[in-house]
Amino acid sequence: MRTHRNFLIAGFALILGPAASSTTVQQAAGAVIAPARDRAPGVSARNRVLFDFDWRFQAGEVPGGQSVGLDDAAWDRVDLPHDFMISGKGQRMALSASAVARADSAKLPMAAEGPFDPRSAGGASMGYLNAGIGWYRKTFTMPARAAGRRVVVEFEGAYMNSEVWLNGEKLGTRPYGYSSFQFDLTPQLKFGGAPNVIAVRVHVKQPSSRWYSGAGIYRHVWLTTSDPVHIERWGTVVRTSSLTSQRAGLTVRVDARNQSAAGVATEAEVTIRDRNGRVVASQRAHGVTVDAGALARFEVALAVPQPHRWSIEDPYLYQVEARLVVAGRVVDEERVAYGLRTIAFSPDSGFVLNGVHVPLQGVCLHHDLGPLGAAAFDRGTERQLEIMKRMGVNAIRTSHNPPAPALLDAADRLGFVVMDEVFDEWKENKTTFGYGQFFDAWSERDTRDMVQRDRNHASVVMWSIGNEIPEQGDSTRAEAMAARLAGFVRDEDPTRFVTAAMDNPTAALRTGFAKPLDLFGVNYHLAVYPTVRGMKAYGSETSSDYSSRDQYNLVLTNGVPQVMNRLDNHVTSYDFEGPAWGNNADTQFQAMRAAPWMAGEFVWTGFDYIGEPTPFDWPNRSSSFGIVDLVGFPKDRFYLYQSQWRPEPMVHILPHWNWPAAFTGKTIPVWTYTNADAVELFLNDKSLGVRTWAGVKETHLAWEVPYAPGTLRAVAKKGGRVVAEDRVETTSAPARLELTVDRPTIRADGQDLAYVTVRVVDAHGRLSRADGNQPVRFTLSGPGSIAGVDNGDPTNHEPFVGPTPGAAQHRAFHGLAMVIIRAPRSGGVVTLRAEAEGLAGATVTVRAKQ
Ligand code: GAL
Repeated sequence: MRTHRNFLIAGFALILGPAASSTTVQQAAGAVIAPARDRAPGVSARNRVLFDFDWRFQAGEVPGGQSVGLDDAAWDRVDLPHDFMISGKGQRMALSASAVARADSAKLPMAAEGPFDPRSAGGASMGYLNAGIGWYRKTFTMPARAAGRRVVVEFEGAYMNSEVWLNGEKLGTRPYGYSSFQFDLTPQLKFGGAPNVIAVRVHVKQPSSRWYSGAGIYRHVWLTTSDPVHIERWGTVVRTSSLTSQRAGLTVRVDARNQSAAGVATEAEVTIRDRNGRVVASQRAHGVTVDAGALARFEVALAVPQPHRWSIEDPYLYQVEARLVVAGRVVDEERVAYGLRTIAFSPDSGFVLNGVHVPLQGVCLHHDLGPLGAAAFDRGTERQLEIMKRMGVNAIRTSHNPPAPALLDAADRLGFVVMDEVFDEWKENKTTFGYGQFFDAWSERDTRDMVQRDRNHASVVMWSIGNEIPEQGDSTRAEAMAARLAGFVRDEDPTRFVTAAMDNPTAALRTGFAKPLDLFGVNYHLAVYPTVRGMKAYGSETSSDYSSRDQYNLVLTNGVPQVMNRLDNHVTSYDFEGPAWGNNADTQFQAMRAAPWMAGEFVWTGFDYIGEPTPFDWPNRSSSFGIVDLVGFPKDRFYLYQSQWRPEPMVHILPHWNWPAAFTGKTIPVWTYTNADAVELFLNDKSLGVRTWAGVKETHLAWEVPYAPGTLRAVAKKGGRVVAEDRVETTSAPARLELTVDRPTIRADGQDLAYVTVRVVDAHGRLSRADGNQPVRFTLSGPGSIAGVDNGDPTNHEPFVGPTPGAAQHRAFHGLAMVIIRAPRSGGVVTLRAEAEGLAGATVTVRAKQ
């Protein structure tokens, strides 16, 4: 074996024979591989390419859909990530007798409106969208020079019950739609120009979850070519063994598999680079001969001098590069973004990051991206987190399933801590076709896979083994079931905290369900907070307020303005309303202040999501729990949280100031959210008085203002100095459309997104809220496509996806709508034109750069 004088030999290898190796394969192992586009140029040992483009899709059953000879030329041409449920391509399943009775008694219409089907078996929970069966096929060739290499296809997730074939031969299945999985294509693959056909069938029986699931290959697919001697899947495991300001001690485990026919002398080396690419540590493990079929586990110890810690404010990431070397040649390489930080939970004060107490200011997020459905675009996910960051969020709960890897990458990069959650159901189903049917056969695998995949992420600080698990109340099995799953998690990662989100916390204490947990997660149930004092606890789910953006439900009753909590299937945006099991944000903040031992909270939810349209039913098809709406426009509550969670001075006024003439002189409640000491309110430059927090329990300062059209202005002061201002104005009739784009230049990679905000404005360019407005028609010219369109109105039944990639139509809601443009794969200028009856149109251009 070659000697490398420049590397200190500090590692060792543990050899596992072929017998042990099969277990290891089944329990596949850990690191998220850096996306191909991030890889250092010139690294050819491993070739990992995005396998998302040029698939064919067919909705519904296709007998023999996997057969090589099948002609799929007439199938839809699609690129991944792809969700066929969002576009209305799902199939209606027969309703159960009880669902028919429910639909009839609710007088639901028989016919679908747009993609929304009142008689969908998924019902309100799944957003009245049908799912069913979908087939995907992709024909591809492999170069002759790849022959003899190992080729693997990785699915980040396919919903659900996926079955995969290559060249007509079945490779396997994966029931759970949120797990990442892979298959080795090598045995069936043809090299040298002969076509290969990969076929995937998904089958989504409904209802399969309590929220919108999506359907199809909704996350990325990767094709990885490496040497037969390669790093196992998720086989680079990085851990911090010690961390001081002078030195970080790391151990890096590299699992090497020899898939060739003979033993191979193999070495492992690990290099750590700082953010600027400078090598800060490098070590090589002793070489060993890895037998045919066997797995060698290398352990490499490294030290990083003067470590730069990862934190929420400064999410500094190192790159850890693990390489396998055979006969002096690098045969495989994996790169992992890694943050150095310490985490702890104290029973008295909660979460401690790098020795500093950090209250968890968290939100729960479902996985859909609004009008994109479940299609997991990296940019859509990143944008969600950017919006949450602006609100002051520092923690994300991936309710109630393992997320797309892009979410954790973004959380690492942007500075969030994450509660990574595996299940919403164990054996006892909450929905007819829920996870319970798979629990016995798959729960170990799904749990281990989540941890193995995600355990290198600095952002992940806790693993949740379940949300509101019905078994928590069953003393015959609660403890054993929880201990089993917690055991799998600790096996794979003893460095983080195991938790569960409990909606029956007192039962969980009684039955032993909570015993195997490190952290006690309380869903709602504020009265339990004193009971869990001394236990390392936090609010795993809180509030469940609901509201519609910019909708106040202020009506004149006998000439007196009154706020109706619910009106016309909308909930008022004054923060009053929530379900019986929840409480509003004010009550929550008071509860947190009274219980400083609670580590913080995860509000239900950061974003509106499709499905679960509480407190309504049809026609509502999406939730109103979000602090921002389905497309990311902030509701007033966004500013409420911002006032509590962000340090920058701010003030926000509600409601809007466009009331009908009959309101003139009538008293309207005006609220401001602020983190300043005092706010002075002016109506048409006349002071309506200063309000301070003295004696105020809630999170807002309030005035009763006799309505007169004009400008309402809030001036916020701290220490007597003006620090922030906000205003609402009476605006005039809609005159024109206005388009603005979040990023004028996007990557021409077929994956990037540009979010175009559509505003209906008056002649002075001010938002015009006039409702009952005309549809806006969108046409796209140049490369790229319209990926989705919506306006945040949970009752809207217009399609999220246009009839062609270049056209869509949608109404605005309170003057706003959003169009999402998907980047082309080649450079060019994308032009979006918006037009509506009686309004001047608008155009925006986006440059896609290679
Ligand atoms: C919780 C549940 C969430 C969601 C929420 C709505 O009980 O965990 O998934 O349903 O209620 O308030």
